[in-house]
Amino acid sequence: MQTLKYRQKWQVPLMLHMMLDEKKILSEYRTRTRASMKLFEKAEGINPGGVNANIKFFKPYPIFMRGAKGSKITDEDGNEYIDYLLTYGALILGHGSEPIRRAVERVLDRFGTTVTGTPTGIEIEYGELLAGLYSKGGLIRFTNSGLEATLLAVRLARAFTGRTAIAKFEGHYHGANDRLLVSYRPPSESSGERSSPKPVSDSLDVGMDIIAETIVLPFNDFESTEKLLTANAGRIACVIMEPFEDGVIPAKRDFMSKLKRLTEELGILLVFDEVKTGFRIRIGGAAEYYSVTPDISCLGKVIGGGFPVGAVVGRCDIMSLIQPGDSSGGRSVFHSGTFGGNPVTLSAGLAAVEELMKDGNFERLSRRTESLRRAMASSLAEHQIPAVALGEGSMLNIYLGVERVENYRDTLSSEIRLRSLLDLAMICKGIYTKPGNRYCLSLSHSDDDIVSTTEKFNEVLDEAISEGNRAKLHG
Ligand SMILES: Cc1ncc(COP(=O)(O)O)c(C=O)c1O
Repeated sequence: MQTLKYRQKWQVPLMLHMMLDEKKILSEYRTRTRASMKLFEKAEGINPGGVNANIKFFKPYPIFMRGAKGSKITDEDGNEYIDYLLTYGALILGHGSEPIRRAVERVLDRFGTTVTGTPTGIEIEYGELLAGLYSKGGLIRFTNSGLEATLLAVRLARAFTGRTAIAKFEGHYHGANDRLLVSYRPPSESSGERSSPKPVSDSLDVGMDIIAETIVLPFNDFESTEKLLTANAGRIACVIMEPFEDGVIPAKRDFMSKLKRLTEELGILLVFDEVKTGFRIRIGGAAEYYSVTPDISCLGKVIGGGFPVGAVVGRCDIMSLIQPGDSSGGRSVFHSGTFGGNPVTLSAGLAAVEELMKDGNFERLSRRTESLRRAMASSLAEHQIPAVALGEGSMLNIYLGVERVENYRDTLSSEIRLRSLLDLAMICKGIYTKPGNRYCLSLSHSDDDIVSTTEKFNEVLDEAISEGNRAKLHG
């Protein structure tokens, strides 16, 4: 029997009794998802790696879906799952919701087309709402993806400050943006000291020119962050961060307030990447949670109501750098996009956000997420599996085999491979997220979904524990 067992760690001896039968899980996965396997084999012949976004790949092969409604998603073999991936958190109302359907129809009825290629009134209406929530008195520019938002934010920061280097935190993701594909998932062998991480390229094309202009900071370690920022202050345009790393690991409150003060003192712009956290941690994102207004915020995912989107919102004096006027001779920051601010996306996004802001909806969603987080945490504790279950608002994640998670280095000592296997086992029981990914909930997720997910989670752990105990007995 090929099994994956917790590595023996002196800190977590209790975990030795847990074991997942990798061979059995993979065989069940393959049997249940034959149609996906066939499609994947075909896709490999046309799309590099069989996917159109690297994050969508996982081993042995990703599942191809054919339909979805509410909290459920159905694959090409007809298996139904409760969907906790929700397009990486984008679908705050769940799949195929009525408000989104109506919003899209309204655009088609009103304009008679999907896109006009000109400004439309919705850009003002939705822009005012988002700017009011994320940067009072500020300005907003819509983009077509989160990546494009972080790209623009960094360009603005460099233009505004006249400095060239960027500071970012180890383990923080800002999209497939070459300027920021540094030390997102660096291997521990090459990433240097915990307190002063070495910048490591995440992509073949990211070379020494970018590495030399990137300062990598240790999240939640203010003393070391302060040293690194102070030593390089004269050349750093901005600090860009996920205020909740990976959407779930919170910046400590005093870390955040000190960082805000320090960046102000050093003339470094503070950029919150709220692509994951916007409308999920709070209606006003992590900025509301911390009562900290950054100089620039990046938004995405939820604000598109299920259509491709991004936005940069921030201080007037910074955002004004992209106003068109006379842009000859590099006197302003050029930003453009054929589909920027398109009415289908913005109407769907506005509908999603308005629904979420209706009386009690955000609180209800957060309560459900919290009850799932607690249920998973107690199930792990009952099975004597050391783990941390983190989450705020409508996202959660679990880290196995650790007792504390404050930043990327802590996640590296968690049982990453075992976690993915556990998720594959959950997929076989009808609970879907990309293996290893955080769980996101939507307004469509019901109490019954939570109960059923908890039951399946217990079943998987029960099976893992009995496998482990059997293996121990047999020596
Ligand atoms: C924090 C963060 N920033 C930026 C991005 C990139 O957004 P997109 O995938 O829309 O380009 C993501 C995507 O997951 C993200 O999580």
